[in-house]
Amino acid sequence: MSEFAHRMETMAGTAEVVKNLFAALGDPELISLGIGAPASEALPVDIVREITNDVLRLDTRGIEALQYGPVMGVKDLREVVAEQLLAPKGVKTDADHIMITVGGLEAISLTCQLFINPGDVILVESPTFVHAVETFEMFEARCIGVRMDDDGMEVEDLENKIRQYHPKMIYTIPTFQNPTGRTLSQARRKRVAELSAMYDVLVLEDDPYRDIRYSGEDLLPIKSFDTTGNVILGNSFSKIFSAGSRIGYIVGNDRVMEMLQRAKTASNSQTSMLPQIQCAEFFKRGYYEKHHKLICDLYRERRDVMMECLDKYFPEGTKHTRPDGGLFTWAELPGGLNTTELLKEAVSRKDVKVSYIAGEKFFTDGERITNCMRISFGAVPPDKIRIATERLGRMFCSKL
Ligand SMILES: Cc1ncc(COP(=O)(O)O)c(C=O)c1O
Repeated sequence: MSEFAHRMETMAGTAEVVKNLFAALGDPELISLGIGAPASEALPVDIVREITNDVLRLDTRGIEALQYGPVMGVKDLREVVAEQLLAPKGVKTDADHIMITVGGLEAISLTCQLFINPGDVILVESPTFVHAVETFEMFEARCIGVRMDDDGMEVEDLENKIRQYHPKMIYTIPTFQNPTGRTLSQARRKRVAELSAMYDVLVLEDDPYRDIRYSGEDLLPIKSFDTTGNVILGNSFSKIFSAGSRIGYIVGNDRVMEMLQRAKTASNSQTSMLPQIQCAEFFKRGYYEKHHKLICDLYRERRDVMMECLDKYFPEGTKHTRPDGGLFTWAELPGGLNTTELLKEAVSRKDVKVSYIAGEKFFTDGERITNCMRISFGAVPPDKIRIATERLGRMFCSKL
């Protein structure tokens, strides 16, 4: 058989993590703090069933749902995005400047198709979302990490690295970041937009957790401070509607939209119609408000239980983030504990049987920090959070 293309080497990491996570789901005794999926209780199954029955009975919408559709996506869904999701967050745009994508992931890869040439530098938060890094590497970009603190990416380090590396793009997950749960402060959001204008660098603002805020004050997206069109906003319906529907969106100016249409036509020509229509109807029929409250209440409770349990069961000296939203927290263990090595034991030992994602995977450009871990609480019921953290904590403490 012919040899595979070189780019396939860059795609091994996430595929391996995802394979292991899903394999672990097949073991009923194992509790997964690894998977970043929404809670099953947060999926609006009954509402979607009702909407789908209705839609398929209506001649015009039924046919629309099963036919080829527009490259940009279903118009009323794009209007929903502009009016219900972006306008309240200070982003002034309209349906003509929004494209519906195959999940938030396609927003990332389409942006690369438009802008990234081999050898281009992309500045990323350190640590960051591995999946995005793999996409960047598939386009033969070089990723350079920017330091973070509790307020997200450090903008002084960002500016230094812009001067040093002349990047093509800055990739940021400003709200309840994957993997850390940290949020970029309002002042820094403004500064990122200023730096992008000052040095003419593109920003890809990937914000799929923004709408799951259950405490603290809402912040404006970086896009709302954009004066040049350099900020491209990507988002997803995976965490607020349905992950399996695979719908997301990308927001840009006229020129970006023109190029996006070319790139999307060449790659898959459109996003599936039925999920777009189900989602548009979900918002237009007014279900979102109640659903949004339900998921925020659900995740807030899980966050609170997770915070309490980490403080109670993890070794003294453990540091962890306290997110105001989203699905993850990030813990740094004391005493030189290595989360990559301990993971094998945590999954296989009969008295532990808990998985998580070792933090090492989330660092780029050779930086390897081995005492940290991403812990997902979103999809885990509170009683299981208690059991899993107690078992893991006991194992970690025994190693010190
Ligand atoms: C930061 C980030 N961006 C994008 C995505 C992709 O989301 P989607 O399911 O919409 O493709 C995820 C999903 O976990 C994510 O964490």
